[in-house]
Amino acid sequence: MQKQVKVSAPGKIILSGEHAVVYGYPAILAAIDRRFSVEVGEGETLANLPPDNKELLEFALNEINRNLNKRKPTDYRIIIDSQIPIGCGMGSSAAFAVALSAAVLRYNDKPWNLEKINKIAYGIERKQHGNPSGGDNTISTYGGFLLYRKETETFKVFSSLKTQNFPSLFLINSGKPVETTGEMVDRVRKLYLKSPLKADKVFKEIEQVARGFLKFLSKEESKLGELIKTNEKLLEKLGVVSEKTVNLIRKIEKIGGSAKISGAGGVKENSGIIIVYHPDWEKLIAFAKNKNLDIFGVKLGEEGVKIGKS
Ligand code: MEV
Repeated sequence: MQKQVKVSAPGKIILSGEHAVVYGYPAILAAIDRRFSVEVGEGETLANLPPDNKELLEFALNEINRNLNKRKPTDYRIIIDSQIPIGCGMGSSAAFAVALSAAVLRYNDKPWNLEKINKIAYGIERKQHGNPSGGDNTISTYGGFLLYRKETETFKVFSSLKTQNFPSLFLINSGKPVETTGEMVDRVRKLYLKSPLKADKVFKEIEQVARGFLKFLSKEESKLGELIKTNEKLLEKLGVVSEKTVNLIRKIEKIGGSAKISGAGGVKENSGIIIVYHPDWEKLIAFAKNKNLDIFGVKLGEEGVKIGKS
């Protein structure tokens, strides 16, 4: 029988700390119940990926081979299958990097080593996004809820957050941003270079919100809606949310909800996925239906990379 390995890794949302995390501030991330599956088998290197992703796949396989100390590249037949929308802030690229690294290591009979999988996936993410924090690949590797911090390029710390009964959240897809994650990170870098004090002030305020989320997770505080709202306003100050998305979020606030972007955002038109909380779900769903919005429920704290499809 032909050898084959199937691995899946989850997408993510960022409860708090996107962008600030690139500058060494903490972020709180959660793995979600949408996964990216990769199957690796024998055969010519071939993957069912869109043509513009072929170069990335080649880079990723070289990166994995380098870690396997393989001088001669091996061919793999790769089949991917994903439940995560691409380029919408739900961690699709990180889940791809994690699942592919894990599947190829496993195919080569290497021990299941999360640290190694995460390290290789980070290298692949760097190729895609330039200067990522590494938060997305880390949550996809380890799963659950994580408090994550990039202290330096080589030293990153994270801690698993134990939490129960997180209130249900919904996600609304505001649409795929025109900009890539790398471009959005670059945009904030320009703001930081132009006005470092102003940017640092916003990052510090975001850190306070992240601490508020920690208190919420440990049940010391109960104002989830306020935390989401405050975080969103700070992201707007960083200039990563489009006018169209700001308008949508203000409308959600008007009907008693709160919402924030999750991930890099986007300014030209769409800003990717937004996380929505509303104490009255029926009201939110009626609103979304009325506006023809793409809304879906999400489960948080799901398992990290694992063998098997989903
Ligand atoms: C992207 O999902 C999150 C950002 O903070 C970038 C990063 O952490 O690398 C915008």
